[in-house]
Amino acid sequence: MARAVFAIAAIGLAVTLAGAAWFFLRPAVQPVWTDHELDMMESLWIANLPPLPPDPSNAVADDPLAARFGHRLFFDPRLSGNGEFACSSCHQPERRFTDGRLTGAALGDSERNTPSIVGTAYSPWLYWDGRKDSQWSQALSPLEDPNEQGGNRVALARLVDGDPEYRRAYTELFGILPDLSDADRVPAAAGPIPGTFLETAWNAMDPADREAITRVFVNIGKAIAAYERLLVPGPSRFDRYIEAISRGDALQAGAILNADEATGLRLFMGKARCIECHNGPLLTNNEFHNTGIMSAAGKIPDRGRIDGIRQARDDPFNCLTDFSDDPLKDCAELRFARTGAEVVGALRTPSLRNLQGTAPYSHQGQTPSLERMMLHYDRAPLSMIGHNEAKPLGLSRRERAQLEAFLATLDAPLVTAPQWLSPPAESVALTGNPPTR
Ligand code: HEC
Ligand code: HEC
Repeated sequence: MARAVFAIAAIGLAVTLAGAAWFFLRPAVQPVWTDHELDMMESLWIANLPPLPPDPSNAVADDPLAARFGHRLFFDPRLSGNGEFACSSCHQPERRFTDGRLTGAALGDSERNTPSIVGTAYSPWLYWDGRKDSQWSQALSPLEDPNEQGGNRVALARLVDGDPEYRRAYTELFGILPDLSDADRVPAAAGPIPGTFLETAWNAMDPADREAITRVFVNIGKAIAAYERLLVPGPSRFDRYIEAISRGDALQAGAILNADEATGLRLFMGKARCIECHNGPLLTNNEFHNTGIMSAAGKIPDRGRIDGIRQARDDPFNCLTDFSDDPLKDCAELRFARTGAEVVGALRTPSLRNLQGTAPYSHQGQTPSLERMMLHYDRAPLSMIGHNEAKPLGLSRRERAQLEAFLATLDAPLVTAPQWLSPPAESVALTGNPPTR
C-alpha cells in the first residue's frame, strides 16, 4: 500500500516537473502576424527610410569635396588644443562611432555618454538634450569645449590657412580665407571661451575680424557635417525578415529570424510598447522623453530637454541666425518645440539600430547591458526628476530575453563605402581628381 502511494506521488511529481520544464523551455513558435502588426513592421523597415533630408542651412551639405574635407577634419587631432584629440578619438568608427566609455573624455570629462553619430542627418536635434539644431552647428561645440578638443577658432582658421591641402579645399568650397598675417590684429589663438585668456584676446579683436574668423569656424563645421551625412545604417537581418514576410514567404522568413527573435519583435510592437517612442525606420521618433533612467552614482539628475531647448533657442549658430545658408529661415522645429513640464528630465530617443558594440547605454552610460535595459523598462521606476512616461510592463524573464534577441537583429554594416570608415589616406589629394564617392 505504502509503495503504491509512493509510486503515485513519484509519478505526480515527475509530471509536474516535466510540465514545469516544458513551460520554461518550450520552443517559441513563429508568430502569425495580424494586419495591424504587418503595418507596424513595415513602418520600421529600412526600405522605408526616406532619402537624406536636405539641409538648406548648409550649402555644402551634399558637396563631395566638402565631404572629403570633412572626413580629413573629423580624423585630424590638430583640431584640438594640444594636438592629440580628433572627433574620432571619441566617435571611433570601429565602435560604431562611440567610445565604450561611461561618459566621453578627451582633454577633460564630458557629462554624458558618447552617442553614435550614424544616421544623425535624419534628426532635427543633436545631443541627448537636443541643444543643437543642425549637424554643422553641433560640430562647432567639441572643437572649442575645454573638456573635449579644447581648440579655438582663431587657431583653427590658422590651421586651415597653413595647410596647403586644407587651404585649397577651403577656398574651392567657400572662397578666400581672411588675411591672418597681421599678428597685431589676429593673435595666434583666441575665441569666446568663457573665463579664459582666449576670451580676453578675442574681445580685444576688431569685430569685423571676429566675424570673418567665425565664418571660417562655421565653414569647418559645415564640411564636417557633409562627411557625417554619409554615415547611414544599412539593412539588417530584421529588414530581410520584413522583406520576406511582405513577399508572403513565411518559410524564408522563418529561416531569417528564429522564433524567439520574432516573438521579441511582437513584444516590441505590442505588450512592451517600445514602438511608442522607438518607431520609424531608425527606431526613433526623434523626440524627447523621460524614461526614469536613474542618474549615475554621484551625479545630479539630468534636466535634459528643458535646458536643451533653451540652449538651442539661445544658440548663436541656430537655424534662425545669419550663419544658416537657408534664406527662408523656416525653422519650424525650433519655433514649435515643446517646452512644458513634460520635457523636464526628457532625453532624445536614440536609434536602436546597431546597438551591439555601443555599450554602455543611456545618457550617462548608466546601463551596462541590454539585459539591464530590459529590466529597467519592465520595472519602470519613478523618475528622480520629472515624470517617467513608461509604465511597468509585467514581462517574464523569457520575454525580456526575447526583446533583447530582437534588438540584436537590428545590427548591420553601414551602407557607407568603407573608405569613409577609417582615417583618410594622406596620399590622396583632396582637390584635383579625387575618387568618386
Ligand atoms: C571627448 C569626446 C568627444 C569628442 C572629442 C567629440 N565628441 Fe561628439 N559627442 C561626445 C559626447 C559625450 C556627446 C553627447 C553629449 C551630450 O549629449 O550632451 C557627443 C555628441 C555628438 C553628436 C550628437 C549625436 C546625437 O545622436 O545626438 C554628434 C553628431 C557629434 N558628437 C559629433 C562630433 C564631432 C563632429 C566631433 C569633432 C568636431 C566630436 N563629436 C567630438 C563626445 C565627443
Ligand atoms: C516613452 C518613450 C520610450 C519608450 C516607451 C521606450 N523607450 Fe527606449 N529610450 C527612450 C529614451 C528617451 C531613451 C534614452 C533614455 C536615457 O538615456 O535616459 C531610450 C533608450 C533606450 C535604449 C538605450 C540606447 C542607447 O544607445 O543608449 C534602448 C536599448 C532602448 N531604449 C530600448 C527600448 C525598448 C526595448 C523598449 C520597450 C521595452 C523601449 N526602449 C521603450 C524612449 C523610450
